[in-house]
Amino acid sequence: MQTTDLIQVDQQHLVFHLHNDKISYLFRVIPKIGQLENYYYGPRIQQPSLDGHLNEREIRPGNNLLTGNYTTSLEAIRQEYPVFGTTDFRQGAYAIRYPDGDEITAFKYSSYQVTPGYPDLGELPHARYGDETATTLTITLRDENSPLTLQLHYTINTTNALIIRSSTFTNSPQSKATYQLTKALSANLDLPSADYDLIHLHGAWAKEMQIQRQPLMVGRMSIDSDRGASSHQHNPFIALAATNADEQQGQVYGAALLYSGNFLAQVEVDNYAVTRLSLGISPTQFTWQLTPGTSFQTPEVVLSCTTTGLNGMSHEFHDFYRRHLIDRRWADQPKPILINNWEATYFDFNETKLLQLATKAQAVGLDLFVLDDGWFGRRDSDNGSLGNWTVDRHKLPAGLPHLVTAIHQLGLKFGLWFEPEMISTDTPLFQAHPEWRLGHPDKNISHGRNQYVLDFSNPQVVTAIFEQMAAILRSTKIDYIKWDMNRYISEAFSPYLAAQQQGELYHRYIMGVYHLYGLLAQSFPELMIESCAGGGGRFDAGMLYYAPQAWASDDTDAIERLKIQYGASLGYPLQAISSHVSAVPNHQVGRVTPLQTRGDVAMFGTFGYELDITKLSEAELVQIKRQIAFVKQQQHLLLTGEFTRLVSPFTSNQPAWQVYDRQSGQGLIAAYQILSPANPPYRRLRLQGLVPEQAYQLSRIDAHYQLGQPLLVHGDELMNLGIIFSEDYSERPADYWDRPQPHDFASQLFALRAVADPQA
Ligand code: DGJ
Repeated sequence: MQTTDLIQVDQQHLVFHLHNDKISYLFRVIPKIGQLENYYYGPRIQQPSLDGHLNEREIRPGNNLLTGNYTTSLEAIRQEYPVFGTTDFRQGAYAIRYPDGDEITAFKYSSYQVTPGYPDLGELPHARYGDETATTLTITLRDENSPLTLQLHYTINTTNALIIRSSTFTNSPQSKATYQLTKALSANLDLPSADYDLIHLHGAWAKEMQIQRQPLMVGRMSIDSDRGASSHQHNPFIALAATNADEQQGQVYGAALLYSGNFLAQVEVDNYAVTRLSLGISPTQFTWQLTPGTSFQTPEVVLSCTTTGLNGMSHEFHDFYRRHLIDRRWADQPKPILINNWEATYFDFNETKLLQLATKAQAVGLDLFVLDDGWFGRRDSDNGSLGNWTVDRHKLPAGLPHLVTAIHQLGLKFGLWFEPEMISTDTPLFQAHPEWRLGHPDKNISHGRNQYVLDFSNPQVVTAIFEQMAAILRSTKIDYIKWDMNRYISEAFSPYLAAQQQGELYHRYIMGVYHLYGLLAQSFPELMIESCAGGGGRFDAGMLYYAPQAWASDDTDAIERLKIQYGASLGYPLQAISSHVSAVPNHQVGRVTPLQTRGDVAMFGTFGYELDITKLSEAELVQIKRQIAFVKQQQHLLLTGEFTRLVSPFTSNQPAWQVYDRQSGQGLIAAYQILSPANPPYRRLRLQGLVPEQAYQLSRIDAHYQLGQPLLVHGDELMNLGIIFSEDYSERPADYWDRPQPHDFASQLFALRAVADPQA
């Protein structure tokens, strides 16, 4: 498909039709009133009828009507980017305060422009790459009451069932006044039905990404974060699933914000069953001064529309992020399999201990050694030294380069932990610059984990932290950073910003974070960064633009991780979900799970280990060696194949998922058993997305990661009849009595390989 085909404009009716093979997005300019009305967002319509047939409007008694117009109330119109305060009493997507305190805007259509590619939003995370496959429509609206313009951007590409939206507010250079933007969401979608369930991901530390599904109600439902980060509590990703939709079928709208700061996702159902979905920066404590000649750009929202269930939605997000969001240096590339010393040593380590870990790590085939918290300042617990990014000579008397060289000599890469946004009061940086801490100097400033937040809205602070980090990165070859962030912003006040700019703090803060990421990427192009925020406290699509993978949770228990990773996969590709095998009893929940299960769960993500490998038995080391070899062999499939959820750990004792790559015909299926049932019923597992007439070899993978005797079976059988788990012991009584003992927390992998059909 040509990109020029992606957007059709009917000049006569001013109807805009964005489409590719999968979707159509249709809206128009309403004559006379110049407002934008949404007609449709759904599966592709070849030739929409544009002669007024799609106008859908009832005059409702009690509506307020626009002046000079006896039939039009915005309350009865499905709008593209609505405002509160005229004739629509639902939630608006934006709000502006004029210098005289008035808040009534009158933006009307002025012009449109179609440009190739994805908009470049500078340091604000944005869709990118493959400009030849995307087209952007920009609608410009002008305010009748001020020199302000509003631009709505819509991007569509040739392959994905989604559009990308954002807005730009601009105050003309000729303007004499400053206007205050008090709300600026990124997108709004009004849908002509309320038969949806709202699906979102909620949680807390160590239990992130829990799926909640709730039928819509008349009224408003919202999730948000006003914590300065996207948060453990809620994720800037929601879905509206048709009430009959499940993982495999049904219509689903997905909405994700490419942003890591405060957000609001809201769904409002009016009294006529119109659903309004809006998403963007949270309006809480948000005010932006639009001074003459300046603009405010909202983050982008990715709005998907699919009819193949929740998996179909996830496939679009996964594919899109892999191709058009994650940095090409890292997307789809083999990921180093790492060992992290955090759960092995916590703060208690020295060079000898680290090298013992690294030596064992090298022996089992690991690629990267990550030194976590505690290497800097004087930090034996979590009560100080953040902001003093100099090596602790008590722990590492020979210095960091000495350790790094020794690790490199072992043939491992080296990674280092930082928490760049934080400050402890016992540091030289804080003594020199107490005003660089966020919070009002004369009021209470709460701590979190004994630490405070640096004022990243102040460019000097970002530069100073960059210089400290750069000094470490220049002192020796560091291949990888784990960027942590362990508390949220409270008492948000910037000693740096002027009084009238305090409402800009949260956004300027996260832009400061992005700037530091950008500086590091420019100065150290080979450096890979993993994002982390006390686990999954800032696991969002904005972060993925800078950091290709994110530590999903501090909960490393394999059984807990089934839910966390399953939930995360709703909106994020496996290659973004960082997952480790850790020790048993597990440090978060005390559960003892088999090493095989821990591996079989963690490998569905970016894989690694986080345990004291020096304390493992020879048998465990042999098992780990096999696990690593297996993951290396399967990694391309795991990171680039199509991941499909089969059975949910939220509702089943026997969850399952698969990765399948249509091109190579390779697949990997994992079936888990949480608790072992006595005298169990039969178990069948139906696969998804295979080619029905294709012949496959299906092989069980044994505890040594060896493929068992393959079964020749066709795609339709695997998808409809499924994999059968029980064994036929008839005529084999001895085998029955020798069968493996069932146990709790078990896992079973299967390999799938397309082969030529011997019957053909
Ligand atoms: C929280 C992270 O999620 C952990 O993995 C670890 O890095 C600790 N912080 C260190 O303080």
